[in-house]
Formats: sequence, C-alpha cells, structure tokens
Amino acid sequence: MYAIALLTSVLLASTAVAAPSRLAQRVAARRSGTHLTRPLQVVDSSFTSNSSHPQYSSNWAGAVYDSYPSGSFTAVTGTFTVPTPSAGSGSNDSYSASAWVGIDGDTCSTAILQTGVDFTTSGGSVSYDAWYEWYPDYAYDFSGISFSAGDVVTVTVTAASTTSGTAVIENTTTGQRVSQDITSSSALCEENAEWIVEDYEENGGLVPFANFGTVTFSGAAATTSSGSVGPGNATIIDIQQSGTTYTDVSVDSSSVTVKYV
Ligand SMILES: *[C@@H]1O[C@H](CO)[C@@H](O)[C@H](O)[C@H]1NC(C)=O
Ligand SMILES: *[C@@H]1O[C@H](CO)[C@@H](O)[C@H](O)[C@H]1NC(C)=O
Ligand SMILES: *[C@@H]1O[C@H](CO)[C@@H](O)[C@H](O)[C@H]1NC(C)=O
Ligand SMILES: *[C@@H]1O[C@H](CO)[C@@H](O)[C@H](O)[C@H]1NC(C)=O
Repeated sequence: MYAIALLTSVLLASTAVAAPSRLAQRVAARRSGTHLTRPLQVVDSSFTSNSSHPQYSSNWAGAVYDSYPSGSFTAVTGTFTVPTPSAGSGSNDSYSASAWVGIDGDTCSTAILQTGVDFTTSGGSVSYDAWYEWYPDYAYDFSGISFSAGDVVTVTVTAASTTSGTAVIENTTTGQRVSQDITSSSALCEENAEWIVEDYEENGGLVPFANFGTVTFSGAAATTSSGSVGPGNATIIDIQQSGTTYTDVSVDSSSVTVKYV
C-alpha cells in the first residue's frame, strides 16, 4: 500500500510523465488509508475565544489567525524538533499525531493548503511521514526525505494565488529539502494562518492520538500583504475529546508551543 502512495508521489513530482488524473490520485490515496486533515472541528461553537482563552477542538491544537485586519495570508512557516511519539490514552497498538503549518481551514472551511510531518508509534516502532495536502483532497506523502527523533524540520506553505501554491519541508540539519507545487479548484480565502498539532483522520475516523511530548514551532511567522506577523495575537486552540483536554498551548511573538498533557 505504501508503494502506491510512493508511486503517486513520484509521478506527481515528474512533469515528463503524463500525470495521473485527480480522481486516480484520490482513489490511490483513499486506498492507501492515508491521512486526511479536516478543517477545525470546534467542540463548543458558542464559546468566544481569544489569545488568552483557548477554543476547544476535537482535532486541532495550536494557534490560528481567524483573519488579519490589514491583509490576507500568503505564506506560513515554522521550525520544530521531531518528537518521539508514545502511546496516548486508551488501549491501542498504534498512535499518531501530526505537526503542520497551513493557510485556511478555520473560518474558511472549504480549503486548506498545508504541509507537515506525521509521527506514529505502532507495535513499539516509531515512524515519520512528510506530506502535503490541499483540502478537500487527501494528503500525499513526500518521497526523498526522512526523519529521526531530534531532527530540526522547517515546514512552509506559500500561496502563489488562491488556487496554486507550494509546500516545502526541510531537514535543516542536513539541508535535505522537498518541495511540491500544488493546484486546486478549491480556492483559498487566505484568511486563516495556523501552526497545528493534529489528531488527523484515517479511514474515516480520528487516529488514536499519540503522546507527542512537546512540539514547539519556533521562527513561526505568517506573511500578509502588509508584512510578516508572528503568532503572538493568534487564537489558542486545545484538543478536547469526550470532555478530556489533551493539550496545553502557549504562544509568544515568534513561537507556538503545544504540550501533550
Ligand atoms: C477573552 O475571552 C474571555 C472569555 O470569553 C473574556 O472574558 C476576555 O475578556 C477576553 N479577552 C480579550 C483580551 O478579548
Ligand atoms: C485502534 O484504533 C483504530 C482506529 O481508531 C480502531 O479501528 C481499532 O479498533 C483500535 N483497536 C483497538 C484494539 O482498540
Ligand atoms: C536529518 O538530519 C539529522 C541530523 O543530521 C540526521 O540524523 C537525519 O538522518 C537527517 N535525515 C535525513 C533523511 O537525512
Ligand atoms: C499584537 O498586535 C499588536 C498590534 O499589531 C502588536 O503591537 C503586538 O506586538 C502583537 N503582539 C505580539 C505578542 O505579537
């Protein structure tokens, strides 16, 4: 199944070979049971949150700009150290979480341009997957980059227009870098910018959420038409499932720290 995802990425990366149809790509992604990020799922929509009081979500933890008064978002970046995931709550053989940056997916729920790294612990072994996604399409794996715990990774998305953009992931320690141009018929609103650790969806349900320790996005910045902004004034979001809160998020002018609690 992994071979299918890999082949799809290789084909996507090649412009010389006829690209598989979008439908074929989606079927391949679905068949391989790959990651899907849904827009922010709010737990209590009557609650009005701000930078000092968190909003609760079943799938996203981190910091999100709902809009920026003086311009739209065209790029988001952040750098984090790859954690070692361990078992979360419940009893399962496999637990995962994903750290990523993106544009849209909160107040704009029709599109998300994003890229990040999944962490999985399964049967005692840890694995990592780098991916890019333009929701509502599924995530696609990057090939040609791999990670170990402790690697320092920079993730960046850039929107060239509302329907085209680029996802870049770099292992800054070695300089190994992958990049993918993406287009979509689902236009971005460019009104949300976010730095997120996610309990993502696979095969139609949330994956058991891994204990990822702490993920700190440093050098966190979003580009607007009027300049660059840090996450200091973004809304904080924590993951809450069945009444239990799993994360504790804090922000400052250039970083977002997401702790598993
Ligand atoms: C943040 O939200 C809380 C709860 O809704 C509210 O009491 C507080 O005044 C808000 N703070 C700011 C700075 O808007
Ligand atoms: C582990 O989690 C998966 C995905 O939620 C679920 O389908 C499976 O039943 C779980 N296994 C156990 C043993 O609970
Ligand atoms: C990324 O950098 C770290 C530190 O040098 C290295 O251990 C790791 O193997 C690198 N990843 C890849 C895929 O080369
Ligand atoms: C929040 O926004 C204000 C006004 O733009 C700015 O002066 C301040 O530095 C920002 N706070 C942080 C922590 O980034």
